[in-house]
Amino acid sequence: MSKTVFKASDISKSFPGVQALSSVDFDLKEGEVHALVGENGAGKSTLVSIVAGLQNPDSGLMQLDEQTYQPGGKADAEAHGIRMVMQELHLIPTLSVAENIFIERLPSRFGFINYNKLNLDTRQVMQRVGLGGIEPDVQVGRLGVGQQQMVEIAAGLSRRCRVLALDEPTASLTDREIDLLFTQIEKLKADGVGIIYISHRIEEVIEIADRVTVLRDGIVVFTGQTSDLSPGEIIFKMVGRDLQQEQLRHGSKSGPTALRVEGLTVGQKVQDVGFEVASGEILGVAGLMGSGRTETMRAIFGADKAERGRIYLYEANEPAEIRSPRDAVRNGIALLTEDRKEQGLLLNLAVRKNISLARLNDISRFGWLDLSREKAIASRYVDAMSVRCLSVEQTVGELSGGNQQKVVIAKWMYRDCDILIFDEPTRGIDVGAKFDIYHMLSDLAEKGKAIIFVSSDLKELMAVCDRIMVMSAGRVAETFERRKWSREKIMSAAFSGYMDI
Ligand SMILES: Nc1ncnc2c1ncn2[C@@H]1O[C@H](COP(=O)(O)OP(=O)(O)OP(=O)(O)O)[C@@H](O)[C@H]1O
Ligand SMILES: [Mg+2]
Repeated sequence: MSKTVFKASDISKSFPGVQALSSVDFDLKEGEVHALVGENGAGKSTLVSIVAGLQNPDSGLMQLDEQTYQPGGKADAEAHGIRMVMQELHLIPTLSVAENIFIERLPSRFGFINYNKLNLDTRQVMQRVGLGGIEPDVQVGRLGVGQQQMVEIAAGLSRRCRVLALDEPTASLTDREIDLLFTQIEKLKADGVGIIYISHRIEEVIEIADRVTVLRDGIVVFTGQTSDLSPGEIIFKMVGRDLQQEQLRHGSKSGPTALRVEGLTVGQKVQDVGFEVASGEILGVAGLMGSGRTETMRAIFGADKAERGRIYLYEANEPAEIRSPRDAVRNGIALLTEDRKEQGLLLNLAVRKNISLARLNDISRFGWLDLSREKAIASRYVDAMSVRCLSVEQTVGELSGGNQQKVVIAKWMYRDCDILIFDEPTRGIDVGAKFDIYHMLSDLAEKGKAIIFVSSDLKELMAVCDRIMVMSAGRVAETFERRKWSREKIMSAAFSGYMDI
C-alpha cells in the first residue's frame, strides 16, 4: 500500500446561487494518478483550485503528508510542493516561451537576466515535453493554442513537486503530444508525485488514471479503481444516461455546393488548398497540430490575409470578396474558433450580452435596445445549449470553462449564418454536452446549412461527418467519403506530408 500524500475531507464551497462543492472527500496516494471527471460545472476546477491555494473552501480540512494543510495562496501552496496547470491558458502572450516558463525565477547575474542560461534551461524543459523544436525566444502569442498548452504544461513540470494538478491538459493537444505528456506523467509517478488529472476524455482517463472520482453537481457520486470500469460505466455515472446508444448521423442528402475554395495559399502554412462543401453536408477536417487547418479557416473567414486563392459561394461565377471577418459574416459565413478567450467572448459581460452582440440590429428598435426581447432570445439559446448559469444576467467569466464554450456556440447559432465553420468546438466540453453539439450539428445540416467541422478528435469526426478531408503540412492530403474511411487511413494521410521521400 503506498502512502497517502494528500487528503481533503468534507470540503464545501459555494458561490452566490450555486453550491459548487458539497462535503467532498478526496485523497491522493504517492505515485498515483487520480482522475476527476464530471459534467461542465460539476466542480472539478473549483476543487483543484482549492487544493492549489487559489481559493479558500467555506469549510472542510486538508492534509498534506498527514500534516494540516491550509494554503494562504498559490505561492504558499507551491512552497508546500503543490502545483497546478490551469484549464485556461495563463501565459503572457507578449513574453517569450523562456520568460513564461521561468517568469518567477529568471536566472540573473548582477541584476541582468542571463539569457544564455535561460534559453538553455528552457530548451531542456521543452525537450522533456517533446517540443525541442520550439525556439525559447519565440513570443508565446505566436504559437497555436495546442503549443501554448504544451508550454504551460512544461512550466508546470519544470519544478519539483509532491502533488501536481492538471486541469484538462490535453483539451487541445494532438495524439502525439498526449503520448509525450503521458510519458512525463509516468516518470513523475515513478518519482512518487501524486497527480490529480481532470479530463473529459474518458478513454484517456482509463488509460492513465489509477483511480477516478466522479463529481455531479458538486457531490462525489463515485470513487474507485479505473481498472474495474468501462468508458460507458464512467459516462453513465457522470451524466446518468447512456450515450453510446445514441444514433448520430443517418447519412444525409446534401444539396448544391455552398462554398468552394480554390488554390488558397497563406505563407508556408497553407499551400494550394482546395475543397468544397455542400448545403446540408458536414465536412470534417482532420490533421495533426500545425497542419494548417486553423490557418485555412481563418483565411476563408477573412481573419488572415491569403496570398492567393479564390472562394466561390453557391452558384456564383465570380469569386466572393472576403477581406475581413465582417465581409465573411455579410456573406453568411461564421467561424467559431477554439480560442474562446481571444476571439469568442467578453468575459466581464453578461451571458445575455455575449449572445446578443452577434446581432444587435435584430433586437434594437429605432436604435433602442429591446431588453425583454434580448433576454428572451438569450434564454432560448441558453436552454437549447443547456448552458449552466444562474440566469442570462450572470457574467460569462463566472461560468465553468465548458459552459463558456457553450455560450460561444450559442452566440454563433443566433447569428444564423448558412456556412458554419467550427474549429474544435468541443474542446473542454463534457461528454453529455458533446453529444448535444453533435446533434445540433446534425440538425443544422438537416436544415440545409453547410458545415465545416475541424477537430483533432477522430472519433467525433467519424461519428458526425459526411466526408473527412485530411490536411498534412499545409496541403489537402486526402478526402474520404463516409464508410470509406478508417482511423488508420486517416492517420496515414495526416502524416503523409511529413514523410521524407
Ligand atoms: N468565481 C465564480 N463565481 C461564481 N460562480 C462560480 C465561480 N467559479 C465557479 N463558479 C460556478 O461553480 C460551479 C462549478 O464550476 P467549476 O469551474 O468548478 O466546474 P468544472 O467542473 O471545472 O466544469 P468544466 O468542465 O466546464 O470546466 C459552476 O456552476 C460555476 O458556474
Ligand atoms: Mg473546469
